[in-house]
Amino acid sequence: MTTVVTENCQKCRFTDCVAVCPVECFHYDDEMLYIDPEVCIDCAACIEECPVKAIFEEDDLPEDQHQWIEINETKASDLPVLLAPMDPLPGAEERKDELGF
Ligand code: F3S
Repeated sequence: MTTVVTENCQKCRFTDCVAVCPVECFHYDDEMLYIDPEVCIDCAACIEECPVKAIFEEDDLPEDQHQWIEINETKASDLPVLLAPMDPLPGAEERKDELGF
């Protein structure tokens, strides 16, 4: 099993998750992060860290978020690894409010 980043990460990209990851499983683009399922050890440490609850255990994914399993796998394989947290995207706090967190 793996953990999966879902749509709440878009326009936020807080990267608190990266700070607690014991392996190098997070990859990034201009929108959000993606978890490489081949590298994730399923420790679940990142799940609680995300301020917009964007990360789920694969088995706990909401019904309408299952497409993110494949998106994470595909995107992670093409994008650079993120080794340390970076600044959230501009407007991330406003997006967090919009999402109700
Ligand atoms: Fe995204 Fe949440 Fe991490 S917003 S970058 S999954 S802390």
